[in-house]
Amino acid sequence: MSDTTPNNSVTLTDNRTGKSFDMPILDGTSGPSVIDIRKLYSESGCFTYDPGFTSTGSCDSSITYIDGDKGILRHRGYSIEDLATKSDYMDTCYLLLNGELPNKDQSKEFKQTITYHTMLHEQMMNFYRGFRRDSHPMAIMVGVVGALSAFYHDSTDIRDPNQRLIASHRLIAKMPTIAAYAYKYAIGQPFVYPKNDLSFAENFLHMTFSVPCEDYKASPALVRAMDRIFILHADHEQNASTSTVRLAGSSGANPFACIAAGIASLWGPAHGGANEAVLSMLQQIGHKDNIPKYIERAKDKNDPFRLMGFGHRVYKNYDPRAAVMRESCHEVLEELGINDPLLELAMELERVALSDPYFAEKKLFPNVDFYSGIILRAMNFPTSMFTVLFALARTVGWVAQWKEMIEDPHHKIGRPRQLFLGHEEREFIPVEKR
Ligand code: ACO
Repeated sequence: MSDTTPNNSVTLTDNRTGKSFDMPILDGTSGPSVIDIRKLYSESGCFTYDPGFTSTGSCDSSITYIDGDKGILRHRGYSIEDLATKSDYMDTCYLLLNGELPNKDQSKEFKQTITYHTMLHEQMMNFYRGFRRDSHPMAIMVGVVGALSAFYHDSTDIRDPNQRLIASHRLIAKMPTIAAYAYKYAIGQPFVYPKNDLSFAENFLHMTFSVPCEDYKASPALVRAMDRIFILHADHEQNASTSTVRLAGSSGANPFACIAAGIASLWGPAHGGANEAVLSMLQQIGHKDNIPKYIERAKDKNDPFRLMGFGHRVYKNYDPRAAVMRESCHEVLEELGINDPLLELAMELERVALSDPYFAEKKLFPNVDFYSGIILRAMNFPTSMFTVLFALARTVGWVAQWKEMIEDPHHKIGRPRQLFLGHEEREFIPVEKR
């Protein structure tokens, strides 16, 4: 925990015993204060109960700040809007990892370091070949990223700062190669090696869309859009996948295994899988005329249908990433000369939902995934790759958060407790008497 000085406290009283307990309140630099309950169990004999962690801060961090009510997202103090429009993904990675934006020399050196780690151990190609051709690329990602720890033994000692740094660079650098190979494997095309004279985003597009038999040049508009999508997904505080990475890492597991755990968590439709789900939903809705019917279904408690890409655990206002993504979406479609009826449908759905009192009362706004699927589709990515791209971009956030935790001298293994509602001790009954 940081040196935040307690300047206030709350008093909890156990009505059963009449005993009171003073719990310090810790203030951060921004955002809600926290009640420090670390001594609660030893003093009161009670745990706190917060399934879904809706009121629980699991760590202190200096990386990303979100104000969900105001729709603010900042990395190391810089707004996501500034980073998305004035910076690039590599400099954003540097910022997340090191706390400051790089100067020109630092930026050049960092880009070079990442570039020189993009190749995969050749033996890993055989690993890919073990998968079925129709495997979901996220299944391949979880497996291959976890397997990195079997290939890069010289960067798995988490106590060595240099090995931690090399593992961080390797993960950021190899993720595009791993993602592109997952795609190539599924469509039966040869793996395309990374090219060192290309930028991070362009190199990824090259490995994904080029074939060895002809030249490929990604349009600058596509490269810019790809880079911006990466920036918008780079980190997002203590979300489900990041908390998974931290929890896995808290036991001392190696970083490759921890990031594989994060990828598994991201896969779910309530998290990173939402952009894939948005597109399926728009296709299911099919036409503007059907919007009212689906809005009614989303509002019906007895219907499992939800508006995918709407709502967020933290944002109770417009997700600032969604605003940038919406703008990018128009730019990309215009530059590529694509007239996608799904974009029209998405905008109409957004308009109808935002003017419906149900969504207003529950503060449900479009999140980053609402528009990202449409851009990715325009860029020719199959839906199954959407969450993979999210994982690729989020790797830097996971790595930065993992490093921050490991480098905190007070970090402990994460071990939540429970409210037990099962049987008390009972007598064992032999099988013939059950
Ligand atoms: N459509 C319709 N109703 C919704 C939606 C939605 N998309 N999201 C929330 N609600 C309703 C809930 O039914 C609930 O209503 P109630 O209070 O009457 O029970 C209320 O709004 C609060 O919703 P919760 O599920 O309690 O909110 P929570 O914070 O747990 O969930 C989540 C947030 C998972 C993102 C949810 O809004 C959702 O499932 N959205 C769709 C999936 C999605 O887009 N996920 C991407 C998240 S962003 C990301 O990971 C990058």
